[in-house]
Amino acid sequence: MSRKPAMAHERAPEYVRAIAPYVGGKPIEEVARELGLDPANIIKLASNENPRGPSPKVLAAIARAANGLTRYPDGNAFALKAALSERLGVRAEQIVLGNGSNDVLELATQAFLRAGDHAVYSQYAFIVYTLATQARGALGIEVAAKDHAHDLDAMRAAVTPRTRIVFIANPNNPTGTWIEGGAVESFIASMPQDVIVVLDEAYNEFLERSEQSESIAWLARFPNLIVSRTFSKAYGLAALRVGYGIMDPALADLMNRVRQPFNVNALAQAAAVAALDDAEYVAESRRLNSEGMRQLESGLDALSVNYVRSHGNFVLIEVGDAANVNLKLLRQGVIVRPVANYDLPRWLRVTVGLPAENARFLAALEQAISR
Ligand SMILES: Cc1ncc(COP(=O)(O)O)c(C=O)c1O
Repeated sequence: MSRKPAMAHERAPEYVRAIAPYVGGKPIEEVARELGLDPANIIKLASNENPRGPSPKVLAAIARAANGLTRYPDGNAFALKAALSERLGVRAEQIVLGNGSNDVLELATQAFLRAGDHAVYSQYAFIVYTLATQARGALGIEVAAKDHAHDLDAMRAAVTPRTRIVFIANPNNPTGTWIEGGAVESFIASMPQDVIVVLDEAYNEFLERSEQSESIAWLARFPNLIVSRTFSKAYGLAALRVGYGIMDPALADLMNRVRQPFNVNALAQAAAVAALDDAEYVAESRRLNSEGMRQLESGLDALSVNYVRSHGNFVLIEVGDAANVNLKLLRQGVIVRPVANYDLPRWLRVTVGLPAENARFLAALEQAISR
């Protein structure tokens, strides 16, 4: 009996076929279409974006850069690297730019993981660590969290000679948990020097100054450390896709070799330079976020809804049948993020919005959880 020849998709590596598709926050237009709602009456608190919109200085820089759209962007991003170098006190050779910091995480796995290598990360850590690891045919070692937070001692114990990368998210998404700098620093110091630590600080700018670690200064002592940050969150530029990693030049050189030459577009580069120059915007975003967080926390307390204390611009709340509560919120035009894909089927993640959006979410939640 002749066997049917395999189809092309069946020839894909089994580790690619095993990847669970990424589930993002639902776009406003999609919810409007599906539920027959007016998009103008829908609020989205589902993707940890900055609710303020970009700063006017950034919009002006984008308008200027729009005059040069027929040219490829500067693949070496001279101006943006110069601005980051000055701001962070690092050399341009230490910087790897990404199409979002997601790209930087991907590039680290592309440059440093072989099939069969191990990458260590925490249970409930940002899901891209799993996806990027799996895409290389490497093995993700998920270490049980403690009170929803990274358990650094257990993560240290999970490192073996097969480990090539350890991911730490600080603060972590979706839990919002945060580790004090001294503990992170001792963890990095305890790693074998041939194991790379990727310290993902996507929400760093939302931390109070006293909570922000000296991670950039640590780079002088740890040639195996990669610090990644983004313009998507406190800088309010999620749609443009620009982030960066700072590291030893030897690591940056390898990541730049596997990077697409023009991975950060010209508008994003110009916007990021202008955003770096607008410290007030970030300071105001931080202030608005902590006020909004207090508003959400007191509203949740009043509703007796359990939540994990968060250091980001979002909060993880325990609502029981989260799929059902999510549907009831959607019907009221409020988009939040279910996190069943994180193995948290009783929880929803809510991004801090503008004061009126937070109030609307709390009112919708009250309805959704009432019997
Ligand atoms: C912990 C963490 N790291 C990285 C990212 C990636 O963000 P971006 O690619 O927009 O920089 C996110 C986005 O939600 C995140 O939560």
